[in-house]
Amino acid sequence: TTYSNGGLGAEGPETTETDSSGTGGMRKSLEGSGSTPNDIVHLKRRVGLFSGVALIVGTMIGSGIFVSPSGLLVRTGSVGVSFLIWLACGMLSLLGALAYAELGTMNTSSGAEYAYFMDAFGAPPAFLFSWVSTLVLKPSQMAIICLSFAQYAVEAFVSECDPPSAVVKMVALVAIVMILFVNCYSVNLGMAVQNIFTAAKLVAVLIVICGGAYKLFQGNTQHLQNAFTGPTPSLGAIATAFYTGLWAYDGWNNLNYVTEEIRNPSKNLPRSIIIGIPLVTLCYALINVSYLAAMSPTEMVESEAVAVTFGNRILGAMAWLMPLSVTISTFGSANGTLFAAGRLCFAASREGHLLDILSYVHVRRLTPAPGLIFHSLIAAAMVLYGTIDSLIDFFSFTAWIFYGGAMLALLVMRYTKPNYPRPYKVPIIIPVLVLVISSYLVVAPIIDKPQIEYLYAVFFILAGLIFYVPFVKLGLTPKFMEKVTLFLQLLLEVVPTSTMAM
Ligand code: ARG
Repeated sequence: TTYSNGGLGAEGPETTETDSSGTGGMRKSLEGSGSTPNDIVHLKRRVGLFSGVALIVGTMIGSGIFVSPSGLLVRTGSVGVSFLIWLACGMLSLLGALAYAELGTMNTSSGAEYAYFMDAFGAPPAFLFSWVSTLVLKPSQMAIICLSFAQYAVEAFVSECDPPSAVVKMVALVAIVMILFVNCYSVNLGMAVQNIFTAAKLVAVLIVICGGAYKLFQGNTQHLQNAFTGPTPSLGAIATAFYTGLWAYDGWNNLNYVTEEIRNPSKNLPRSIIIGIPLVTLCYALINVSYLAAMSPTEMVESEAVAVTFGNRILGAMAWLMPLSVTISTFGSANGTLFAAGRLCFAASREGHLLDILSYVHVRRLTPAPGLIFHSLIAAAMVLYGTIDSLIDFFSFTAWIFYGGAMLALLVMRYTKPNYPRPYKVPIIIPVLVLVISSYLVVAPIIDKPQIEYLYAVFFILAGLIFYVPFVKLGLTPKFMEKVTLFLQLLLEVVPTSTMAM
C-alpha cells in the first residue's frame, strides 16, 4: 500500500513512499506495466454549511478591498457613485451566484463553468473555458494578488513615498515561489496555511471596521457629506469601475468548483451563497465608510495602499498591524487561488482537455506539482509585464465573458432539459438580468475606449480552437511530446495518478 491515498486528498499520509530513490512509482508508470488503475481522487463530502460559507468568504476577501477603493474613486469621480458601485457589485455577485446555485444543484459535478458548458453547449466551449482559465484567468488572479501582497509588504518599510516598482515585482515573485513551494510540499500544509490566513484576514477586516466606527463616533463625518459632487462618469468608465469593484468580489462562484465535496449540496450550496455574499457586501460597505472616516477622498486617491494610510491615521503605535494583516490576507488568498488552480488544471487534463503532464502528481508528496509549476510560471510572467490595474481589467473582461456564458447555459438548459431535476430554481429574471449586465460589462469598455488588449483577449480565447481540433477532437499527439513528457516526469518525479494504486 505504497500510495494508499492516491490523488489529491487533503488527509492521509504524506510521505508513504518507502523506496528512498522514489523511482518505484516512476518506473511503473514509464513502463506502463503492472499497475492497476486507481479510482483516482476520492473526494469526500467534507464541506458543510459553515465551511461552505468560509470557502466563499475566504476567497472573496483577498486583496481587492485593501487596494481597489482608490481606483474605484478615480474611475467614478465621486464618493457617492463609487459607494453605489460597491453595493451594486455585491448585488450582481449575489444574483450571479444564485443562478450558479441552480446550475450547481442541477449538475453536481465539480468544475463549475466547465461542467455547465459541457452540459449546455458541448465539449468545444467547455474546452475553451479550461484553456482560458488555466492559461489566463487563474494565473492572472495569482499575479494580481501577489502584486498586492508585495505592494503592502514593501509599503510597510517605505511609508511616505511610493515604493519602487522593481522592488514590488521582486517581492511578488518571491511570494509566488513561496506559495508554490508550500503547495508542492504538501496538500496538508497548503490547507493549514489557508485556514490560518483566513482567520487573520477576518481580524484585519474587523480592525478596519472598528477603527472607522471609532472615528465616526468622534464626529469625523465630513467626507461622507456631499458625496455626489463631482464629474459624471462615462458609461465606459462605469464599466471599468465595475471591473475594479468586481475584482474585490471575485470568488463568489468558488463553492461551485467543489460541489462534489459539499454535504447535501442541494441545501448547503444555495444557503452558503445566501449567507456568504451579503456578509462580504456588508463588510465591504462598512470598510469603505471606515476609510472615509479616516481620510479625505483626495488622500484616498493619492494613497498607494489605502489600508496602510488608514492604519497610520487610526492605529497610532499599532499602525504596523495593518500592512501585516493585509500581507497575511493576500498571501492566504494567493495560496487558495493556486490550490484551486492546481485542481482545475488537474481535472481538465484528466479529461484529455489539457496536456497529460499537467494532471500528474509527485510520487512522494502527492501534490499536483506540474500544474502548480505551470501556473506559477505564467503568473510570474504576468507579474513582470503587468500592473495591478491592467491585469484586473484584463482579468475581469475575460472572466465576465464566461460568467455571462454560464447564465446563457442556464437559460439554454431551461429549454433543452426542461424536466431535469432542479432542487433549487431561480426566478428566470435573475439569469437574464446578469446576462444583460455581463454583456454590458464586456462591450462597454471596448466601445468607450477601444484598447488592443481586449482584442488580444478575444483572439486568445478563439485561438484555443486551433488546439482543440487536432489535439482534443482528433486526439493527435506529436511524437516529440512523448519525449518531453518523459523528460519532465524524470525531472519532477511525477506520475499519472492512474498508476498510483499499488
Ligand atoms: N476577490 C479576491 C480579492 O479581492 C480575489 C479572488 C480571486 N478569485 C479567485 N477565484 N480565487 O483579492
